[in-house]
Amino acid sequence: MAREVDLRSDTVTKPTAAMRKAMAEAVVGDDVYSEDPTVNELQERIAKFLGKEAALFVPSGTMGNLTAVMAHCWTRGQEIIIGDESHMFMYEQGGISQLASVHVSSIPTLDDGTFDLEVLKEKIRPKFPNIHEPSTGLICIENSHNRCGGRVLPMSFIRELCALARNNEIPVHMDGARIINASIQCGVPVHEIVKECASVSMCLSKGIGAPVGSVVAGSKEFIERALRCRKVLGGAMRQVGVLAAAALVALETAEERLRVDHQRAKKFAQEIHNLKSKLITADPDVIESNMVLLNFPCPSFTSEDFVARMAEVKKDDEVEVVVKACAWFKNRVRCVLHSDLTQEDLDYAVKKIRSVAL
Ligand SMILES: Cc1ncc(COP(=O)(O)O)c(C=O)c1O
Repeated sequence: MAREVDLRSDTVTKPTAAMRKAMAEAVVGDDVYSEDPTVNELQERIAKFLGKEAALFVPSGTMGNLTAVMAHCWTRGQEIIIGDESHMFMYEQGGISQLASVHVSSIPTLDDGTFDLEVLKEKIRPKFPNIHEPSTGLICIENSHNRCGGRVLPMSFIRELCALARNNEIPVHMDGARIINASIQCGVPVHEIVKECASVSMCLSKGIGAPVGSVVAGSKEFIERALRCRKVLGGAMRQVGVLAAAALVALETAEERLRVDHQRAKKFAQEIHNLKSKLITADPDVIESNMVLLNFPCPSFTSEDFVARMAEVKKDDEVEVVVKACAWFKNRVRCVLHSDLTQEDLDYAVKKIRSVAL
């Protein structure tokens, strides 16, 4: 059997022995009655970590973001402004309009995950617009930015954007699925990054390695609304402390563990860059967290060709390994590092890529 190196996502990790033990031993209750002590502990702990009054455990990042939109855009006829490369815009099935009945106004995402604040200014519509227009009820940002290859938003951008939003009395939601990655990269505590955001969602099932779940955090009033929204979306669970218990374990080692991913991602990108291949390139200078984007500048060898080739083992391959990756960008492949990979796995992946790239 060939070795398998899975670079598709940081969601593929399996719970550790410590997580499984905590899950087996978790004290649980009915969380719809807010009676699950382990969920309550997780929510309190994360609210504190994010510097917010309250937090709510939800089954997924998608539900966390949708819940936040619904809780902010409480009246009819509202819209949100959001980057056109953001996860909420690209990959959440348009749930914002499909389920929340909220209109979406998109703004071009720049390479580093930010957007032009002058363009944003023009897009903002007044709280009480003329009868033809929706009113802007929320601005959303993403940090770290998935489709931008894990880029981390500069604090200056977040501060300027939040000031602009505040002047227009519009709340800001941060999709912080990988907010701890962002914090490690910019050296700013998580609560400081999200200080001026009215709400934040954070995934537990990505790089930090918990099997299931996300949290959304904000003011007590916001969380009361979010609780209602989560219920109608079918996200109110019962003895869900078994999942919260794994997340509590994951949080204990989150920062040190993600630091390893960041270092390895940089090394991985540098090694691909050093191949000086005409077919596959990577730019180590833009690696800011646990993702590496591979580029395919030559039309005769596309990202789809690469993914198919990585799934095969051929006689003249330098090493016997199957590398799983996703070609969901045009001419780009996203490689994501995570806790179930060893440095040896990555060395194998580089050797396999070398067999193909040269
Ligand atoms: C930035 C970002 N936000 C939200 C999500 C959604 O998370 P989930 O898959 O748990 O719904 C993802 C998932 O990859 C993501 O990358």
